[in-house]
Amino acid sequence: MSNAGHSRIVILDFGSQYTQVIARRIRECNVYSIILPYNASAKEIASHEPKGIILSGGPSSVYAKKAPHPNKAVFTMGLPVLGICYGVQLMAHFFGGKVEHSERREYGAAKLNVAQDCPLFKGLGATMDIWNSHGDKVTKLPKGFKAVAHTENAPYAAIEDRKRGFYGLQFHPEVVHTPRGKELLENFVHTICKAPADWTMGSFIDETCERIRKQVGDDHVLLGLSGGVDSSVAAALLHKAIGDQLTCVFVNNGLLRANEAEAVQKLFGDNFKIKLKYVDATKRFLTKLKGVTDPEKKRKIIGNEFVYVFQDATKSLARGKASKFKWLAQGTLYPDVIESVAIGGNPAALIKSHHNVGGLPKDMDFKLLEPLRELFKDEVRLVGAELGLPKEVVQRQPFPGPGLAVRILGDITKERIRILQEADSIVVAEMKSSGWYYKVWQSFAVLLPVKSVGVMGDERTYENCCALRIVESQDGMTADWVRLPYDLLARISSRIVNEVKGINRCVYDITSKPPGTIEWE
Ligand code: XMP
Repeated sequence: MSNAGHSRIVILDFGSQYTQVIARRIRECNVYSIILPYNASAKEIASHEPKGIILSGGPSSVYAKKAPHPNKAVFTMGLPVLGICYGVQLMAHFFGGKVEHSERREYGAAKLNVAQDCPLFKGLGATMDIWNSHGDKVTKLPKGFKAVAHTENAPYAAIEDRKRGFYGLQFHPEVVHTPRGKELLENFVHTICKAPADWTMGSFIDETCERIRKQVGDDHVLLGLSGGVDSSVAAALLHKAIGDQLTCVFVNNGLLRANEAEAVQKLFGDNFKIKLKYVDATKRFLTKLKGVTDPEKKRKIIGNEFVYVFQDATKSLARGKASKFKWLAQGTLYPDVIESVAIGGNPAALIKSHHNVGGLPKDMDFKLLEPLRELFKDEVRLVGAELGLPKEVVQRQPFPGPGLAVRILGDITKERIRILQEADSIVVAEMKSSGWYYKVWQSFAVLLPVKSVGVMGDERTYENCCALRIVESQDGMTADWVRLPYDLLARISSRIVNEVKGINRCVYDITSKPPGTIEWE
C-alpha cells in the first residue's frame, strides 16, 4: 500500500450510482477512502486498517433473494459503521429491525428535523435540507438503536447506536442536493472515526515521488503524452520524481486542435524541460484514413496506427541502447481501477472501454507504472495545479483520443481538418472569454457532411454546415445540452460563418445523452 501513512475509510459498494461520490466527498475531508466490493472479506477490509466503514446505497431490497449482504464481520471489527440508504436498511435488517417497501418512492428534496443530540449532526442545527432516493425504508428500529432525526415521511431518517458506533441515514449526504452533507460526513470521519485530515495533494506528491524513485531505481521511463489532463499531470509528477529518466513521446496524428502540438512542446519541452520526443505522423494517419467514412473504422485505424507510431518512436529512442526503457507510464485513474459491482443495472458500472485512452502496445516488454491510479479526476487536477501546470491544462475539457477525426463526419481531408480547426478555435476562444468554458463539460464544433445554400454580400454560397455541441455532465456517462445565452450563441455562430472559409451555416445540437452521445461519431 502506497498510502501507508494515511488514515483510511473503507466504503463497501452495494451498487449505488453514488458510491464514487461518497469516496470523493470523504477525500474532500482530507481522509483517504477506498471502495471495495460489498462482499469483501474481513481480511481484506482489515488489511487496509480503516478507521471506519461506510455501507453505500444500492438498488436492491434487503429481503430480495439475491440482495447483496456484507460480511458479518463488518459489525464486529470494533469500527464505526455508517449506513447510507440501502446501507442503513442492511444495518436495521441485520440487527433485527424491520424494513418495508413503501408504496410511494421517496425521491427528491425533503426537510430533516434533528431531534436528538448526535455526533453526526454536530454543528448542523435543528433542521437540514436533504435529498432522498429510496423505495424501501426502516419501519422498526433494531435493539440498541434510536432515531435521531426524521422527515415528514420517515420517522427513522437518521438512527444511531452510539455505544457500538453504528449510524444510519435514509437520505444521501453525499449528493450536492444535500447542501450540508459534506459537514455531516466530516463529522463521521473526524469526530466519530477519529480519522485525522492527513490526505492532501502535497503529501500525495511527496510520497508518490518517493515511491516512484524506489520502484524505478536507475531505469528509464517512457510516457505517451497526449496533452490531456491525465497524461500531462503524470508527466509533471514523474519528472519531479525522476527528472531526466523520463522521456515523453508526443504523437501528432494530424487530428489535433489548432496549435496544440506547439503548445505541448512549449510547455513540456521549454518550460518543464522534460525530454520530449515529438513525432509528426500526420502523413501516416491521413494516408490510412483516406476515403474512410465509417466511424468505427476511423477509430480502429487511428488506434492501430498510434501503436505502430509509438513502437517506432520507442525503437528509435532506444537504438543502440538495448532495452533502455524498462517502464511504461500511464495516466490510469482510480475509477478505471475500482472493481465495479453491477447490481440492478448500475450505470456507473458501464465504463466504455474504448474511452480508456491509449491503445497501448500490449506486446511491448514494459513494466507498467501508474502513478495516478489512486486518484479521482478532481484530485488529478489539484495535483497538476500543485505541480505548477497552468489552468489551461489542468482544467481543460476532455478531448477524444481519435481527435478531430470523430468530429469530421464523412471524409477526412486536410482542407476539412483546417475548416474544423478554425471553427473549433473560435468556439474555445468565445467560451473562454465569456467565462463559460470552465463551467461546461465540453464545448466544440462538429463539421457535417452537408452543404447548404447561403448569401454572403451579393453572392450565393454553397458551403459546409457545422454543429455546435456544448454539454454539461458529471462524468461523461450522461449529459445535457447547455442553455447557453443567445447572445453568446449568436456571437459564436456569426464569427464562424464570417471568419471560417468553407462554413456558411451553424446549428446548435439540443440532444441530451442518452439517447444521443456527446461526440457525433
Ligand atoms: P460519447 O460520445 O460516448 O463520449 O458520449 C463520452 C465522453 O468520452 C469522450 N470520448 C473519447 N475519449 N477516446 C477518448 O479518450 C475516445 O475514443 C473517445 N470517444 C469519446 C467524449 O469526448 C466525451 O467526453
